[in-house]
Amino acid sequence: MNITVIGTGYVGLVTGLVFSDLGNEVICVDIDPEKVRSLLEGRPPFYEPGVEELLQRNLQEERLHATTELESAVRHADVIFITVGTPPRENGEPDLRYVEQVAQEIGRALNGYKIIVTKSTVPVGTGNYVRRIIEDHRQGDHEFDVVSNPEFLREGSAIYDTLYPERIVIGAESQRAALKIVELYAPLERPMLITNLPTAEIIKYASNAFLALKISFVNSISNLCERVGADVTQVAKGMGYDSRIGAQFLQAGLGFGGSCFPKDVKALIYSSQKHGLDTTLLQSILDINEQRAFDFVERMAEKLGGLKGKTVAVLGLSFKANTDDVRDARSIEVIGALMQHGADIRAYDPAAMPNFQRIYPDLTYCRSAYEAAENADAIALVTEWNEFKQLNMERIFKLMRKPFLFDGRNIYDPMRMQKIGFEYYGIGRTVEAPLLQPALHGARG
Ligand code: UDX
Repeated sequence: MNITVIGTGYVGLVTGLVFSDLGNEVICVDIDPEKVRSLLEGRPPFYEPGVEELLQRNLQEERLHATTELESAVRHADVIFITVGTPPRENGEPDLRYVEQVAQEIGRALNGYKIIVTKSTVPVGTGNYVRRIIEDHRQGDHEFDVVSNPEFLREGSAIYDTLYPERIVIGAESQRAALKIVELYAPLERPMLITNLPTAEIIKYASNAFLALKISFVNSISNLCERVGADVTQVAKGMGYDSRIGAQFLQAGLGFGGSCFPKDVKALIYSSQKHGLDTTLLQSILDINEQRAFDFVERMAEKLGGLKGKTVAVLGLSFKANTDDVRDARSIEVIGALMQHGADIRAYDPAAMPNFQRIYPDLTYCRSAYEAAENADAIALVTEWNEFKQLNMERIFKLMRKPFLFDGRNIYDPMRMQKIGFEYYGIGRTVEAPLLQPALHGARG
């Protein structure tokens, strides 16, 4: 099939690469000539495992092309994916400016039956809106269909998620269009749900908001765990064995960041309010999340007797592991709060420092976690990189001035850290092993 993908961000490029690798002829379009040039040279514009390899292979085999020329790319295509950004406005409403521009250009370039697929996360009703724009701009009465095919990929495992999605959602208004998209995805052999446009659009928002809800829920529970000597990691495990709940997305920590969850929950709130609906539950997801970094730093200040003039090593800046993406990363909030308290910060991240430097140019950036820990009064572990799980913590301990370890993602074993000599503070758990301690006391008593 001839496929054109408009917008070469995470979703667009990964989609283009996977379809190309499956044997389709794919053109990736972007307005940024620099991005296109770098793609043509086999250099992806962002860090994502597997992307570079796939890009180079498919360029070499000449199934993948990149251009700034939208018109010819549209004319060449059977299926056109719109994967441009939908950044949030101040009020949480997604800004559809780029989707509108692209739809107009597609309309003008239309030269025969085509399927236009929205893959960007767009508010319910956008599919129909795109259809109207294309109708208004097409020259002649060329037929077309609009399909909503939301993307569920995660950064860090984007290629895998696209090749092995748990479900493929196809919102289409005609059987002709639905069947064509089914045919395109058939080689993946994954479950498909065919439904109408607004249903597909809501599935995407509802899924992301629900995952964010799980995180805020477990984070709320972690606050109680801390107060009563319970261990939130065990609570989550105990809950997760119930298949109705499921074990995933119950890791308590500093909360969620990234380009999707915060933005999508805000957009769902906006859509619901537009229809006069109550949004208390959705708003709480965000409120709880906002509070996390603040509480984390307050706790540090309390335990260290104030942070003014203290040196804090911040480990991890990306919004999660295996990405250089710092959009809405909790590290931004943590560092902002640390600075307000007057702390000196030594930061380290395996991949995200160049991006973070644009937000905070004046921090001390270090070449390793060890360098960051030198003479630090405390460590604030913010992102759960594997590299941090494997650190020589005895060495870290020796490098530090004071032994405070604040583990914002619960990656360390509290007992082990205490044995090394750290004053360890995790999220929603205390150092005592809650299961064994009472029994031992009982036996002694
Ligand atoms: C998310 C969705 O998972 C994906 O389906 C959608 O297409 C885009 O949004 P992504 O933003 O890449 O993907 O990251 P994800 O792995 O979902 O993590 C989001 C945030 O939640 C991260 O900041 C992560 O640290 C945090 N998180 C995740 C938790 O705090 N606890 C958890 O249990 C899981």
